[in-house]
Amino acid sequence: MPESFEISASSGRYQVTVDSGLLADALRSHAGAVILIDDRLADALPAGEKKVIRVTAVESSKSLEQAAPIVAKLRELGAHRRTHLLAIGGGIVQDVATFVASIYMRGISWSYLPTTLLGMVDSCVGGKSSINVYDYKNLVGNFYPPAEVLIDLDFLRSLKAEQMIGGLCEAVKICYARSAEEFSAYLADAPAIDMAPARAERIVVRSLRAKQWFIEIDEFDQKERLLLNFGHTFGHALEAGTEFRISHGVAVGIGMVVAEEYAKQNALLAPAGRKCVERLTGHVELLLKELPQLADELRSLDIDLITEKFDNDKKHQADQYRIVVPKGNGALELVGVARTEQGRMTIRKAYRAAIERLAKINQLLMI
Ligand SMILES: NC(=O)c1ccc[n+]([C@@H]2O[C@H](COP(=O)([O-])OP(=O)(O)OC[C@H]3O[C@@H](n4cnc5c(N)ncnc54)[C@H](O)[C@@H]3O)[C@@H](O)[C@H]2O)c1
Repeated sequence: MPESFEISASSGRYQVTVDSGLLADALRSHAGAVILIDDRLADALPAGEKKVIRVTAVESSKSLEQAAPIVAKLRELGAHRRTHLLAIGGGIVQDVATFVASIYMRGISWSYLPTTLLGMVDSCVGGKSSINVYDYKNLVGNFYPPAEVLIDLDFLRSLKAEQMIGGLCEAVKICYARSAEEFSAYLADAPAIDMAPARAERIVVRSLRAKQWFIEIDEFDQKERLLLNFGHTFGHALEAGTEFRISHGVAVGIGMVVAEEYAKQNALLAPAGRKCVERLTGHVELLLKELPQLADELRSLDIDLITEKFDNDKKHQADQYRIVVPKGNGALELVGVARTEQGRMTIRKAYRAAIERLAKINQLLMI
């Protein structure tokens, strides 16, 4: 059954539709649009499509420097203020599309078809662009929601296990952040790497509805929405410190385990909270177990480099690291950690404990 609902943003309302076969509909209803597409998926377009810009879905493509050639290409294709942009791809294409659509001739309308599970359960709503500058991940960006989001579940068929796992890590993070009830309902939906379309649709809709609460109450990341950074500050350092061999969603999964270790080591959790978080990280561990190559990656991590990347995160303040951790009964909170040698040591200790724990789990599976 197709699902459809609206998201409220300060720029207006936009429709989210979840179904199969939406790509063909979108190409028909946006004939004449410029298509910005993940290079890997370009074969999904009809042979005659002429106004196509291909983007290689690697981190270096969503950079300030790489935005300029895309803007120039739009101009070469004759795009004007009323031209519509149809973006088809995962989070990389989305970040590029959001940014480019917002600046081209001071803003053109655009539609987004997410093609990764991560894009479907999380990033497709909320309107954020996050653009890298040199070595700094997601350092610049803005808010510029699409006119519509079309989630075509057919794209899930060609995803690798790692991409499904990354998407499920983001989805469970959102539901956990929303409430204990939402988290339990999410687990009851039995999210899995090889979900049939009906189950995938339930997971996608549940996760987006949970995220809707955050982005409608706090569109511009001032308070509640910041909790969705759970796993991210720790995770971004893991991505950057491995030259993105650990992908975004997987890094967020590991980041949630680091946050749990931090909370335990610093006695932030009551017994009920410990149980609650263990349920979450137990689920994440089961997902990460499906990635046998992760054990080697984790064992060869350079903790000094990871801590350095963590230190560089844009979300910190001059005198404080800012992290989202579970506290008390397990609810998430944004906390400050003094940016001192001692503060750095507590962060490092949490990374080490989580990495050793996860490397062991993955290693056991390999024996
Ligand atoms: N702006 C936001 O709100 C937001 C939120 C979360 C993540 N992000 C960003 O998104 C990026 C990660 O995005 P992602 O994980 O969605 O994917 P991605 O765009 O990085 O793509 C991952 C890989 O999957 C491939 N791929 C995409 N769709 C496919 C399909 N249907 N079948 C087979 N292969 C496919 C791509 O070619 C690429 O190799 C990160 O840069 C992250 O920072 C942005």
